[in-house]
Amino acid sequence: MGFLYRKLVRRILFNFNPELMHDAAIRSARVFQRLPPLTSLISLLARAKDLPVTVAGIKFKNPVGLAAGFDKNCEAARFLAGLGFGHLELGTVTLRPQPGNPKPRVFRVRESKGIINRMGFNNVGAWEAARSLEGLLPLPIPVGISLGKNADCSIEDAPRNYLEALKILYPYGNYFAVNVSSPNTLQLRRLHEAQRLRQLIEPLLAFAAGQREVKPFFVKVTPDLDATGMESVIEMAAELGFGLITTNTTVKRETVPQHWRSYEGGLSGLPLKDVSNSVLGRVAELGRGRFPIIGSGGIFDGPAALEKLTLGADLVQVYSGLVYEGPFLVKEILKYLERSNWRSRSLPV
Ligand SMILES: Cc1cc2nc3c(=O)[nH]c(=O)nc-3n(C[C@H](O)[C@H](O)[C@H](O)COP(=O)(O)O)c2cc1C
Repeated sequence: MGFLYRKLVRRILFNFNPELMHDAAIRSARVFQRLPPLTSLISLLARAKDLPVTVAGIKFKNPVGLAAGFDKNCEAARFLAGLGFGHLELGTVTLRPQPGNPKPRVFRVRESKGIINRMGFNNVGAWEAARSLEGLLPLPIPVGISLGKNADCSIEDAPRNYLEALKILYPYGNYFAVNVSSPNTLQLRRLHEAQRLRQLIEPLLAFAAGQREVKPFFVKVTPDLDATGMESVIEMAAELGFGLITTNTTVKRETVPQHWRSYEGGLSGLPLKDVSNSVLGRVAELGRGRFPIIGSGGIFDGPAALEKLTLGADLVQVYSGLVYEGPFLVKEILKYLERSNWRSRSLPV
C-alpha cells in the first residue's frame, strides 16, 4: 500500500499546492468518516497488531500517534482514528478563531523530504473545535488537544488565553499539549523562559486538579533552545509533573539546500530528525524517567520510530512522514516494531 502511495498517489498530489492538498484531504476525511462501511474498510486495511503501552496513566493500543497541526480544527478525528494510530493530537487550537499568516505558507522541501510551514495557528477557535469534538467523540483511541496562544494576545496575557481555551476544551481531551514552540507566532517561544513557563503551566495544572478527572499535560518544546534553557524546562517538568514533547519544528536551516534557507517558518521532516533526536536524548538522560516523553520529528519509517523509543520516548508522533510516505506509514512502523520485539518499558515484563 505504501508502495502504491509513493509511486502513484504522491506523484499526483505533489503537483498541487501543499495547503490546498491538505485541506482537500481533511475535507475528504470529513465526508468519509460519515460513511461507516468505508471507515471500516480503511480500518481493516490499516490494522496492525496492538503494542499496548500506558503513559501518564492513559492506556494506548500502540505508541504511534498523529502529531499536532494535521487536524487543526478537530474535524476529521474519527477518520484519522481509523488509520491505526495509538493516539491523535488535535489542534493547535487557540481561544478565539484566527486566520493565520498570509498564503503561501506551506512548502515541500522535496529534495530533503522536509516541509517548511509558517501557518501561524490558523484555526476555528476553541468553541468551534469543541462543537466538532462533541459530534465525533468518543473515539476508540485517546485524544490529546494542543493549545496555543492567539496572535493578538500579548505574552503577558498568554496564561489567561491558554487557561480560557483549556476550560472550554477540557471535557474533550484525554491529555493536553501546551504548545510554546511554534516559531510562527511572535514571541511564543519566550514562554520557555522559566518564570513565564511556570506562570503559564501552574494555573492549567491547578484547573485540572480541581476537576473530577485530573488529566495529564505535556509541554511541546522547540529544538532550538540552548542547553541551559532546556535544563530548566526539564527540571520544571519533573517538579510540577508534566510530560514533554520533543520536538516541534526548527528554524535552523543547515540541513536543507541553500535555496530554502531564506524561507521563514518551521522546518519538519527528515532534515529535522537528527536535531530533534539529540534534544530527545538529552531530555531523556536528564529527565531520568521522572516524566513521560513523546518524540516527534522526522519519523518516516519503523527504524526511525524505534530509534526515538530507544532514546527514551514513551510515545512517538508523525506528521511529515504521512505526507511523504502515505497513510499506511503507521501500519509499516507498527509491523517493524513488532518484528524488532519492541516492548514498552512502562509495562511489567
Ligand atoms: C504544516 C504543519 C503544521 C504544523 N502545525 C502544528 C501545530 O499547529 N501545532 C504543533 O504543535 N505542531 C505543529 N506542527 C509540528 C508537528 O506537529 C511536528 O511536531 C513536526 O512537524 C515534527 O514532526 P515531523 O517531522 O514528523 O513532521 C506542524 C507541522 C507541519 C508540517
